[in-house]
Amino acid sequence: MVPKVAVIGAGTMGNGIAHVFAQSGFPVTLIDVSQPQLDKAIATITKNLDRQVANGSLPEQKKADTLGKIVTNTSIAKGVTDAGLIVEAATENTELKLKIFKELDETAPAGCILATNTSSISITKIAAATKRPESVIGMHFMNPVPVMKLIEVINGYATSKNVRQQIVEISKQLGKIPCVVNDYPGFIANRILMPMINEAIYSLYERIAGVEEIDTVMKLGMAHPMGPLQLADFIGLDVCKSILDVLHDGFGNPKYAPCPLLVNMVTANKLGVKSGEGFYKYMAGSKDLVVSDRFK
Ligand SMILES: NC(=O)c1ccc[n+]([C@@H]2O[C@H](COP(=O)([O-])OP(=O)(O)OC[C@H]3O[C@@H](n4cnc5c(N)ncnc54)[C@H](O)[C@@H]3O)[C@@H](O)[C@H]2O)c1
Repeated sequence: MVPKVAVIGAGTMGNGIAHVFAQSGFPVTLIDVSQPQLDKAIATITKNLDRQVANGSLPEQKKADTLGKIVTNTSIAKGVTDAGLIVEAATENTELKLKIFKELDETAPAGCILATNTSSISITKIAAATKRPESVIGMHFMNPVPVMKLIEVINGYATSKNVRQQIVEISKQLGKIPCVVNDYPGFIANRILMPMINEAIYSLYERIAGVEEIDTVMKLGMAHPMGPLQLADFIGLDVCKSILDVLHDGFGNPKYAPCPLLVNMVTANKLGVKSGEGFYKYMAGSKDLVVSDRFK
């Protein structure tokens, strides 16, 4: 039997997570504090389903079926009452997540799995905000969720084997490939990705090569679909910096300290795609990759 799923947070990740669960037949309640954000999420899911229908990867009827499986709610307490699985994908902020999990502990049914999509916050710490840490697990989807195959499944210190097995099984039902890892700073994905991005930024900072050269070496030499500087712009330079801070604090090792150039760019609000400029500049309506004037 497929469990009812509640997804908390209807932003970039939450709408994608709701989409893939509903498309795989799970009834979904999408919850956000903001009604406009919920409306925007439904519009985004509809647009993405339209694209799947247009490119032949989804039958027309399946679009209506998928949308029919999603309801929305602005209240966690009301939205999770009959959930068998909750996937929290709210803003990446430790205090906020601890508050949400405390509330989930009080409102979610017994036996419900409490998963979080956090990129960098300790699963063990989030679990400790509840009286049922054995039911708390990391379910780290990748962006864009409907396209990316991986789910990094993260065992908290107390996560039970049964909960982990259920999440592995559910991930497969979504057509994804789960990889189980343990809860240490950055898990696996960001522990390996962020130092690579930081090293690319150091290479630019030390003037070893330019933006295009660094990205081209990694694209053509390592068959990466996107260079590390372009990827950093896409993720958001503020997000990259905060994940490096988590690695630096968590391991106490200076090798994870964010490059001073990254720190400067974040301070100057050059955050990449979302602010219109990072290592590249982004003009509305243009898909051309143009290096920021600062690095020419
Ligand atoms: N964006 C990415 O590429 C990416 C990739 C993997 C994991 N993540 C993780 O996913 C989570 C969400 O990231 P995002 O990029 O979708 O963020 P986002 O800013 O796009 O969306 C966050 C949403 O959470 C909502 N929210 C805030 N407080 C809430 C509350 N108390 N209850 C319900 N909803 C609340 C906000 O209104 C917003 O709609 C974060 O933990 C992030 O680290 C992000």
